[in-house]
Amino acid sequence: MKSLFVLVFILWCARLGAAAPIALNPTPRRVIDLDGAWKTIVDPYDNGYLDYRAEPYDQKAHPTSGFFLDRKPETKSELLEYNFDSSAELHVPADWNSQDPKLFYYEGAVWYRRTFDYTPKKAGDRVFVYFGGANYQAEVYLNGEKLGKHIGGFTPFQFEITGKVKPAHNSLVVRVENRRAKERVPTVNTDWWNYGGLTRDVMILETPPAYIREYFLQCHASDPGTASGFVQVDGVNQPTPVRVQIPDLKVDAEFTTDASGRAEISVPLKGVELWTPEHPRRYEVSFVAGADRISDRMGFRTIQTRGTDILLNGKPIFLRGISLHEVNPLKGGRACTEEDDRLTLGWAKELGCNFVRLAHYPHNEAMARTAEEMGLLLWEEVPVYWTIQWENPDTYANAANQLTELIERDRNRASVIVWSMANETPVLPARNDFLRREVALARRLDPTRLISAAMEVHGDPADPHVRIIDDPLADSVDLVSFNEYVGWYSLLPDDCPAMQWKVPYQKPVVISEFGGDALQGMHGDRLTRFTEEFQEDLYRQTLPMLARIPQLRGMTPWILCDFRSPRRMLAGIQDGWNRKGLIGSNGEKKKAYFVLQDFYAKKVEEQK
Ligand code: GCU
Repeated sequence: MKSLFVLVFILWCARLGAAAPIALNPTPRRVIDLDGAWKTIVDPYDNGYLDYRAEPYDQKAHPTSGFFLDRKPETKSELLEYNFDSSAELHVPADWNSQDPKLFYYEGAVWYRRTFDYTPKKAGDRVFVYFGGANYQAEVYLNGEKLGKHIGGFTPFQFEITGKVKPAHNSLVVRVENRRAKERVPTVNTDWWNYGGLTRDVMILETPPAYIREYFLQCHASDPGTASGFVQVDGVNQPTPVRVQIPDLKVDAEFTTDASGRAEISVPLKGVELWTPEHPRRYEVSFVAGADRISDRMGFRTIQTRGTDILLNGKPIFLRGISLHEVNPLKGGRACTEEDDRLTLGWAKELGCNFVRLAHYPHNEAMARTAEEMGLLLWEEVPVYWTIQWENPDTYANAANQLTELIERDRNRASVIVWSMANETPVLPARNDFLRREVALARRLDPTRLISAAMEVHGDPADPHVRIIDDPLADSVDLVSFNEYVGWYSLLPDDCPAMQWKVPYQKPVVISEFGGDALQGMHGDRLTRFTEEFQEDLYRQTLPMLARIPQLRGMTPWILCDFRSPRRMLAGIQDGWNRKGLIGSNGEKKKAYFVLQDFYAKKVEEQK
């Protein structure tokens, strides 16, 4: 079974058009920043793909007018029905929905075009075009030649353009398409806005002929005094010396790769100050292979469970969390800059959090780095959300690819402690198998972190005040996590004191969601829906209810900020916003914010 899976995965990646493995930590290698204004053509009928005027399509009779050629008429009589130069512009990185009212609900294809000149820093260097992410599917062309395709809206990808890039007037054209579809990941139904476009940074990278494409270095719970992992050099076919240097820890170790360029590494961390949210100590780490050196600032720490406890650096920790969509409500649209991240993570710190759930998909790369700098632990997740096509091998390969790209991108970040496989997925044999394969893949890619998922909860027909967690996935994960909405989607907050929770697992429990909507500034009594008082009372009554679960070791209430959702159309209250935020879409705190802040402050006092 496993070899079949591996074969499917390899064939699936090959079908993608050879998206090169990502370049980890791209910024130090950036030679051209392609962020900024791109010319764009909105293409709802996929007119830009081929010349549909000729059926059957006859290339000789109709030289293709595909937008990817970025052509100009060769004579004044030639008919060409597109021209990037005179087209509208969109900013990159950003979604298109929030840039142009005509695109607010748009789900389709948009063609982006950017031109650039390029002179190598060093003759013989290799050149790549790197994308931090594009939602949902991207096809990339350079000077009319297709470089490849990437599927998945939230993870990085790159293509090698060595020998293809010209000194001047390079035309980089990207078709981005964000249509929802049953077989996709996520599938057609989500409770968040389908922001499309080049939503992450785009840059040109340059590397020596042999460069360090990947590295991984972290402590294992079994041996906190040592950091181990691997270095992967790209562009070699014989054993190659590599160095790992951590000056502040007096580490300067040499290793030799195998012929494929991979070396397993392990370095002593004598005197290391282990990373914690309170003391987020990071070290300058450099990896050297021949002419290539890449540096990173990394924290070292261990994370593990022991019985029902979560141990950070061997000490029990309670995860004082909050959930977060990738939105900055003040500016609208997809959050995509370090400034956006600092704003929302700053609000989480102010709330008293040491933990944030980045729902429901990989957030931009700066998020994990900024959390590592600020001292916040993270739960990261792939958008295996609700009713995925569990029996479709392409759907699994897509989810596995997104999970792989997320873990490869962020496994050096001390902030990340949980990889989440899914959110609220129906308990079916095919779903159990799909998620168990994800778990195995995650553990293979990163044996140092905790695995979880927002699993299923169900009631007891005989007693409305009973909730049972018996999701078969619980046997495969480290944290038993689930979303619960007692008091909002079922019963009322006054039912909380009577609730009984049946969680038959001797593992830590992290409540991955609870909450209720409130329109900031709407007031009334505590039984009136959508008032701040209702939401405040729901938090007041939920917290002691959950505290009665003996294995409770953390929570990430839903959610820090209001966020746009096409499913929330209650006029005058939701207006296209999910209002479960503790902070409104106007940036104002709601009364429930202070209930949670007070609960977390007391938690800190308890643990002193
Ligand atoms: C679900 C889901 C969230 C959704 C939330 C809600 O649990 O995980 O994505 O936004 O509930 O209904 O507000």
